[in-house]
Order: sequence, then C-alpha cells, then structure tokens
Amino acid sequence: MTHNEFSRGRFLAVEGVDGAGKSTQMPRIEQWLRRRGIRTLATREPGGTPLGESLRAVLLDPRFAGMSPVAELLVMFAARAEHLAKVIAPALEDGVWVLSERFTDATFAYQGGGRDLDAGTIEALESTVQGGVRPDLVLVLDVSVEAGLWRAERRRRRTSVFPHGSAAVRTECGAADRFERENPEFFRRVRETYLERARERPERYALIDASADETTVTERLIGEISKRLM
Ligand SMILES: Nc1ncnc2c1ncn2[C@@H]1O[C@H](COP(=O)(O)OP(=O)(O)O)[C@@H](O)[C@H]1O
Ligand SMILES: [Mg+2]
Repeated sequence: MTHNEFSRGRFLAVEGVDGAGKSTQMPRIEQWLRRRGIRTLATREPGGTPLGESLRAVLLDPRFAGMSPVAELLVMFAARAEHLAKVIAPALEDGVWVLSERFTDATFAYQGGGRDLDAGTIEALESTVQGGVRPDLVLVLDVSVEAGLWRAERRRRRTSVFPHGSAAVRTECGAADRFERENPEFFRRVRETYLERARERPERYALIDASADETTVTERLIGEISKRLM
C-alpha cells in the first residue's frame, strides 16, 4: 500500500481492560510511526476534546456510583460525537494517522459486556454518531483480569519525584475511578467481549498477548501494524 500527502490517514484504536498497558504503549507506537515519516495524533476516550474531558470526569467520578447504564452509554457517545467532529475526522481528512486509546469497542466491552446493555442498541448509536467511520485497525491488548487489576493498582500507588524538586507527586490520581471500583466479574465480561469481537473480525482486529514485558508488547504491536497497514 502506498501513501502520499493526499491520502486519508489511518485510524487505529488501542483497546483492552484497565491496566493492560494501553497508555504505556501509545507513545511507543506513535514514536515508531513518526520515525517512518507518518504524521500522527494521539488521543483518548472518553475525552480528547474540552467537552469530552469534562464528560470523562463525570464518567469516572466515584460519586456517581450506580449511574444508570443507559445514561452512561449516552454520555460515552456524546463525548465520542464531539471527539469525531472536532478531532478525529479533521485529522484523518488531513492525512494524519489517529491513534486513540479506546474507542467504540470499549463501549461494546464495558457498557455491553460489563453493564449488559444490548449490543444492537450500541450498534444503532455507533451508526448514528459515526456514520461509516470505524477504526482501520483495533489493537486489543489482552491480559488476564487479575494481571490488569494488579497493574492498575500498582499504577495508582506509584509516586514519582520531579527532577527539580524533592516533592513526591502521584503520577495519576491515587483513588480508584468509578470503573476501577467494579468487581472482577465485571472485568471478566469486559475482557470476554473484547476477545469475542477480535475473533469475529480478524481482518480488522489484532489480538495481542500483553502479558509480556513492555518492549515485547511494543514489538508485537509494531509487527501487526507493519503487516496490516504499511
Ligand atoms: N507489559 C507490561 N508489563 C508490566 N507492567 C506493565 C506493562 N505495561 C504497562 N505496565 C504497567 O502497568 C500499569 C498500567 O499500565 P497502563 O499503560 O497505564 O495501562 P492502561 O492504560 O491499559 O490502563 C502501569 O503502571 C504500567 O507501568
Ligand atoms: Mg490508560
């Protein structure tokens, strides 16, 4: 496949349960693409725009424990509509490759699998909000629920020291967010949904064993991207 400055960018989604390693791998993939002269834009869901980041704060806020699953679904798609309109679609049209930490597969996994909402309802919203826009490649980082929860817990505990000062500062908010407080059974359904979707559509999904060390996982991701999109 050839690329030139007039071609549309590719759309990649990085998916997987909490703690799978998505945030760790995103900058590594981006750097690899940039070295190949590809213009990239890294973004995330829910979020990616000022409105989306405000909606993300609502979605993750533990004070809203017990939010109605349909309300949760609609807020997810509200954030996604803004993200597509303001960030993703313009970048793709401009020939930029968009790399999103989570996209609609996360909705099928968390609100569909996790919250048991009907997949047909999610598909209807997907068509309404996205028209025909779908990721060209979904990279599913797969780890066991136990490993993911353990990694996410370790990330919350981790502190880092700013190079210029002595104060230890948490790199991410130390408290578990509204999703991270779900039980392992919820995450098992989330993981199962990701696995099912990846197996049903092998042409658009790469299932990556993410239990290995970070460098090995990066190599696996890059291998899939080169094989499928370069
Ligand atoms: N392959 C790996 N092996 C061990 N630990 C990892 C690996 N990838 C990421 N981690 C660590 O696990 C935690 C969660 O990773 P992160 O990238 O934030 O996951 P996600 O974005 O999927 O929730 C972080 O502390 C990170 O350093
Ligand atoms: Mg992350």
